Amino acid sequence: MQEAGVNLVSVGIFSWALLEPEPGTYDFGWLDRVLDKLHAGGIAVDLATATASPPPWFLQQHPEAAMVDARGVRRAFGSRQAYCTASPAFREAATGLATELAKRYADHPAVVMWHVGNEYGNHNAHCYCDTSAAAFRTWLRRRYGTLDRLNEAWLTTFWSQRYTDWDQIEPPREVSDNSHPNPGQQLDFWRYSSDALLELFQAEAEAVRAISDKPLTTNFMGFWKLSDPRPWVAAEDLVSNDHYLIAEDEDRTQQLAMTADLTRSLAHGEPWLLMEHSTSAVNWQPRNIAKTTGEMRRNSFQHVARGADGAMFFQWRASRAGSEKFHSAMVPHAGTESRVWRDVVRLGDDLSAIAEVAGTRVAQASVAILFDWTSWWAATFDSHPSVDVDPMTTARAWHKACWTRNLGVDVVGVDDPLDGYEVVVLPVQYLLSDATVERLTAFVEAGGTLVATYFTGIVDEHDHIRLGGYPGALRDLLGVRIEEFCPLPEGDEIPLTAYGTGTIWSERGRAVGADVVAAYAFGDVAGDPAVTRRRVGKGAAWYVGTELTPDALDTLVSQVLSETRPVVAGLPEGVEAVRRVGEQGSYVFVINHTHEPVIVPVRGVELLSGNEGGPHLVRAGQVAVIREE
Ligand code: GLA
Repeated sequence: MQEAGVNLVSVGIFSWALLEPEPGTYDFGWLDRVLDKLHAGGIAVDLATATASPPPWFLQQHPEAAMVDARGVRRAFGSRQAYCTASPAFREAATGLATELAKRYADHPAVVMWHVGNEYGNHNAHCYCDTSAAAFRTWLRRRYGTLDRLNEAWLTTFWSQRYTDWDQIEPPREVSDNSHPNPGQQLDFWRYSSDALLELFQAEAEAVRAISDKPLTTNFMGFWKLSDPRPWVAAEDLVSNDHYLIAEDEDRTQQLAMTADLTRSLAHGEPWLLMEHSTSAVNWQPRNIAKTTGEMRRNSFQHVARGADGAMFFQWRASRAGSEKFHSAMVPHAGTESRVWRDVVRLGDDLSAIAEVAGTRVAQASVAILFDWTSWWAATFDSHPSVDVDPMTTARAWHKACWTRNLGVDVVGVDDPLDGYEVVVLPVQYLLSDATVERLTAFVEAGGTLVATYFTGIVDEHDHIRLGGYPGALRDLLGVRIEEFCPLPEGDEIPLTAYGTGTIWSERGRAVGADVVAAYAFGDVAGDPAVTRRRVGKGAAWYVGTELTPDALDTLVSQVLSETRPVVAGLPEGVEAVRRVGEQGSYVFVINHTHEPVIVPVRGVELLSGNEGGPHLVRAGQVAVIREE
C-alpha cells in the first residue's frame, strides 16, 4: 500500500459475520490488528459499520426479515444484503453492531471517517413483504392523513379500486396477467421504498454519531434508479460515490463525466470522494472487458477533475474465491508483476503530485441539466405512450453535447438553486410541481435560457395529467399547445424542416406565442412544430418536441449554446478540460481521450511533469494538470 501511495482504506464493509459470530458476541481482535497495522504504516481508515450484509444466524433467527419480491417470493440467503429494509429486527441488529464498532473504534487514531452500510438498496431496494406493507401504510397515512385524500391522489374510482380501510392497501405486488397496477400506488411505493432506505441509513448513522463526531458517509451509486440520493446528503458529512463503467458502452467516458457532475451537484459543489471504481474489469457484466492502457488513469483524473478529492478502488486484493473472484483489484491475481499494479503505483505518484488541488472547487458550470428521480420513475412506468421514452437517454444526449464542447455542466435537482447558470435543460422532465414551474419561469424572465424536451411537464406530483393541452405545466412559458402524442415505431426517424431528423417521438400541436424554428416535414404531423423558441422577459424558452438524432442535436446545441463559453476554447472533440478553483489559484485538468497529441493553450506549471510555461503538449491518452499563471 505504501508503494502505491495508498493513504485511505475502507475496512470491514462485509465483515459482520466475523465481527459478531453469534448474536451479541463480538470478536474485534482481528480488526484491532488490521487497524493498528494500517496506522503504524501511516494509512488512514474509513471504517465500515459492517452492516452491509447480515450473517446467516440473523436470517435463521428472523426468517421474516428476508426480502420478498413483487411475486411474493421470499428471497434466499446466499449472496449479500439479504434483508428487508423495513425489518425492525434488522434495524435493531444493524444499529447494535454500528454502536459496538463506534464504541470500540471512535478514538482509534487510524479511523478518520465512517462508512455507514454500503450501497443501500443495491439488491433490496423494493421489498413487498408484510412488514413492508405495514410500513408502506404508515408512510401513506403520514403523507395523506385521510383515505379520501389517498383515493383522490391515486384516482381509485378508476377500475373500482376505492379503498375504505387502510389495511386494504398493499404494495404494488404483481397483478393479474396482462394488466397494470395503479400508477399512483406504484409511484408512492417507489417514494416510500426510497425513504425506507434513507431511514435505515439515518438510524445507523445516528448510532455512530451518538458516540463519534468523525465524518460519516455512505457510498452512492450514481444514477442508481431505485433510490433517490438527494435527500440523503443532509445526513452525511461528505458525499461519496461508487462508479463502474459499463464496458461495452461506447460513450462510457461521457457517462463517467455525467455521473461525476451529478455527484458534485449532490455535494453542492463541495469536494467529494470517489469511494469505489475499478482498476480494470468487473465481474458482473455480460462481457467483463479489461480497461485499455491508460484508461484507469484517465478515469481517475476525470473524477478528480470533476470535484473528487480522492480516488479509491474496490478492491485492494483480488480474492481467490467467492462471487467476485474475477473482479479486478489494485493487487491482481498476477501480483505486483503486472500492468495493473504498475498503473496503480503510478496513480499514487500522480495524485501526490497534484495534492495541492484537494479542497478546491470546480468552477461555476454554465449549464444545468435538471434530473429528478421521482419524475424518472413516473416517466418510465408501464402503460405510457412509448417504451422508448426515457429521461436518461435524453439527459445523456444533452450532457454529451455539452461535454464534447467542454462546457461546465451540473446535474441538478428540482430544489437546487439556478443562479449562475446560463442554460437549464429539462430532458423528459415528465413530472413537474407548480413550485418548480415558478422557479423556472423566474429563471427565464431574469435572462436565462430554458430548453424543455417532449414529455416534460405532463403531470403533477400525483402523476395526474395537467389538462388543457400538453405540456400542461409549461404550456404558457414555452408558448406551445400539443394536442396529441404521436410516438414513432421502433427505429423510425422523422425529418424536420431544420436541424435534421428526430426519432422516438413526434406530436400534433401548434405554437401559441412561440416561434417555430423547425417543423415536422413528413407524415401526418407535417407542418406541426418540432422545435420552438419563445422570448420571455430577458431570456428564452425553447421546446424540443422530438428526440433529435445526434447530428441534429449537435446543430441545435450550437445554436442554443452559441454564447456559452467552454472551459478551454479550441480543443478537439475527445479532449476533456475542467477547471478547479481555490484560494491558492486555479487548475486546468486536461484528459486526452483521443489517439492524437494535443496542444493545450493554457500557461502555467503542469504539475505531473513539472513543465513550466505553456502552451502544453498532452500526448494521446495522457492527462495534464496545469496550475494557471
Ligand atoms: C459495489 C460494491 C462492492 C463490489 C463492487 C463490484 O460497488 O460496493 O462491494 O461488489 O460493487 O463492482
